[in-house]
Amino acid sequence: MTESPETPNLDFAGTTPYEDYVQADVLTHLQKPFTDDPGEMVFLVTTQVMELWFTVLVHEWETAARALREDDLRTALDALRRSTYELRSLNASWEPLAHLTPAQFNSYRAALGEGSGFQSAMYRRLEFLLGDKSASMLVPHRGAPRVHDELEKALHEPSLYDEVLHYLSRQGEDIPAAVLNRDVSDRYEPSPQVEAAWARIYSGDPEAPAARLGEALTEVAELVWRWRNDHLVATRRAMGSKVGTGGSAGVAWLEKRTTKSVFPELWSARGHV
Ligand code: HEM
Repeated sequence: MTESPETPNLDFAGTTPYEDYVQADVLTHLQKPFTDDPGEMVFLVTTQVMELWFTVLVHEWETAARALREDDLRTALDALRRSTYELRSLNASWEPLAHLTPAQFNSYRAALGEGSGFQSAMYRRLEFLLGDKSASMLVPHRGAPRVHDELEKALHEPSLYDEVLHYLSRQGEDIPAAVLNRDVSDRYEPSPQVEAAWARIYSGDPEAPAARLGEALTEVAELVWRWRNDHLVATRRAMGSKVGTGGSAGVAWLEKRTTKSVFPELWSARGHV
């Protein structure tokens, strides 16, 4: 077939190079709604889109953690900065679900059975990287060996915040040995000495490596909190005070989760600068 030189190639022996890279055929056939309700498709796809963003964020924060371990601040800051752009995209994807009425949500809610985002393993890995570890969060995944193994590995690896504190210690900051040698599979508990270290960092040169790292992490923390808050508000609109499909008290449970601080001392230190 002769085409004008401006025309893209049409002729491929097998699948297109685009397909080989993107696997769009796989991706666009993963949507299997449980009802005929026309509004269910966007609920399902938004959830899948968020899972993909969670996957990217885990990748970025693992990259940042690894780079910090190697004292490569530049690579860590690049990954953290990219993750803030990705978090903004993630948060913008609430829009199609942010205006559901209870009646609209009811049209497919029952079909979800006990299914809930609470069972998202990738979100759990994301929380683990932020320092919010919990062995009990592995329990729902006992029946899925690959997912369980990945989550178990993440539970026992230092979180991004653990790597940050080790980095600060190597930079000469006074981080207590009890924090540096903590059992990394436990939830991170805020420490007054770490708070004091951040307060010192914030009182000094804003261009110092530790100060730039602190601000990059604060941006991440704020955007994670925004995701949680947008989720809470969307849930309140869609189902009010009903119990969740995952078995929690619903909005009341999410309210408590939303008040949790990400990288707590980065926030509390601000009161001491
Ligand atoms: C309007 C739609 C939504 C409603 C009404 C809703 C409702 C809820 C509720 C009530 C919970 C608490 C656990 C339970 O009992 O089920 C929950 C947890 C959760 N949902 Fe949603 N959700 C919605 C959309 C989404 C979407 C699109 C995602 C994206 C993956 C998502 C991810 C999560 C996650 C990760 C948790 C666990 C949070 C934590 O552990 O702190 N939700 N959701």
